[in-house]
Formats: sequence, C-alpha cells, structure tokens
Amino acid sequence: MEPEPEQQRIGYQIDRAIAVCHHRTRGDGFLSWEEELEELPRVKIELADQSYEFEVYDGANLLLEAASRSIPLPFQCTTGRCGTCRVHVQEGMENLSDYTDSELYRLGDEELVQGGRLACQLFVYGDVRISVNSEKSE
Ligand code: FES
Repeated sequence: MEPEPEQQRIGYQIDRAIAVCHHRTRGDGFLSWEEELEELPRVKIELADQSYEFEVYDGANLLLEAASRSIPLPFQCTTGRCGTCRVHVQEGMENLSDYTDSELYRLGDEELVQGGRLACQLFVYGDVRISVNSEKSE
C-alpha cells in the first residue's frame, strides 16, 4: 500500500532528524557548529547545462535536498518505484547509502555498473558528484 503524501513528508522529516542527531553525536561526542560546518558533505549535481553545488548533513536524502533547493531533478513517486529520479554517480559512490531493493529491481545490471542510482533512495555521507541524463529519466 502506497503511503499518503503526508506520511511520506513526515517520514522524510524523521529521517532528516535522525541524520542530524547521528551527525552531531558521531563517535567521540558532540561536534561544535564550526566542526559541523567544516565536515558537511558537498554535493555537486550536473543537470543539463547547469551545475549545482550545496552542502548537506550526513545521511541527508539526495532527492529531498535537491528539491528543497528548487533543483529541477525529475521525480514522481519518491518511493523507488517509478525510476524517474534516475541519476548517475560520477564520483563518491563510497559516500552513499547501500543499494536498496528498489534500485536493484528498477535499474538494470548495465546501468548499475555505470553508476546508476535512484535519487529518492540515496542518503549522502560524504562528497559526491552526480549527473542527470534527462533523456534516460522516465
Ligand atoms: S521518484 Fe520514483 S523512483 Fe525515485
């Protein structure tokens, strides 16, 4: 059963709150704001002829962060079902969350090998560079 949009929104907010708590209490205790700002992962998105760069908290959802900055990254379902938010990771795959079952199902072997991911399923833990081929989005 598909979650209601309000449930999805609340889910994202909970994910974000958990990510912020995780970031602030990492390992040996709380980080100062200065330390947090120095360590924030940087995301670069190349979309059509545009390039966007921004910082996120550890564990931030890529699609949510892009949408909140009005970056026109295409999406529909936000649950890994439609494949519309397909992106390609150019650098920093090791800084992203593991593949979800939705990604393994939705993306073919060839696309996975080429760095294909679904932005709505991605959580960022370090610097990454992402490209979006709008022709491949459904
Ligand atoms: S928005 Fe549908 S798979 Fe990501």
